Amino acid sequence: MRGVSVQSITKSFGDGLVLRDISFTAGAGEFVTIVGPSGCGKTTLLRIIDGLEEGDSGEVRIGDRLVSGPARECAFVFQADSLMPWRTVFDNAKLGMELRKMDIQTHKDRLKELLQLVGLGGFEKYYPRQLSGGMRQRVNLARALAVDPDVLLMDEPFAALDAQTREIMQTELLRIWSDQRKTVVFITHQLDEAVYLADRVLVMGRKPGVIADDITVPFSRPRELSLKRTGEFGQLVERIWGTIEGVIRETGGI
Ligand SMILES: Nc1ncnc2c1ncn2[C@@H]1O[C@H](COP(=O)(O)OP(=O)(O)O)[C@@H](O)[C@H]1O
Ligand SMILES: [Mg+2]
Repeated sequence: MRGVSVQSITKSFGDGLVLRDISFTAGAGEFVTIVGPSGCGKTTLLRIIDGLEEGDSGEVRIGDRLVSGPARECAFVFQADSLMPWRTVFDNAKLGMELRKMDIQTHKDRLKELLQLVGLGGFEKYYPRQLSGGMRQRVNLARALAVDPDVLLMDEPFAALDAQTREIMQTELLRIWSDQRKTVVFITHQLDEAVYLADRVLVMGRKPGVIADDITVPFSRPRELSLKRTGEFGQLVERIWGTIEGVIRETGGI
């Protein structure tokens, strides 16, 4: 398994400077979350890591390999419901494998195991319309894991879920991550989600996007949901809020 190293990435679209001199690393197997106001360049940063977009300067490495073009080591989990409605759960989950021209027959059993792992055992023949929002995101997760990536890139994957489902998915994701041990870079708007999941929380400021803070989360694992109700947890969330408020005050608006 490999980690991610982002070195001095700068990116503009036309005249607009979006990211300025962004550097950070996510160690192999580390869970890093990124929070920051809308428009600060989080999605752009994730797309650059994935090699879907190129920085104007700077470089991204997965392990030792310099990323240039779509990175096979990464798998993306989007917020939007990106399942194909005419495909079953199983056929949606195998899509990433198909795109990478992996032999489905060889990997069929592993795919079934993954569906089991994400809690969809027995739902292989269901269609997306028969699933809840949480279940659909489980399919997306299985699809990403199926290509056995070193790095999972997750762009607000639980944003569309109701609060209760979101909390369930958070604990599920931690369970799956401890089983599969991927390097994760996870973007979220929700600070409690960022703290609960992460080894480290990066706080981004904007106009242009910069890393304003890099906070190591001290809580041991495995983490129970009740951790969120403790004073220490609340204090850390408050501290991150303070940083974001400062960033927004300096750059105006949300
Ligand atoms: N392909 C693009 N062309 C032009 N501008 C873009 C493009 N992608 C993103 N932007 C701009 O870059 C900024 C950062 O966008 P984005 O990375 O989506 O931020 P975030 O995910 O933090 O909300 C925004 O101002 C957005 O309008
Ligand atoms: Mg975004």
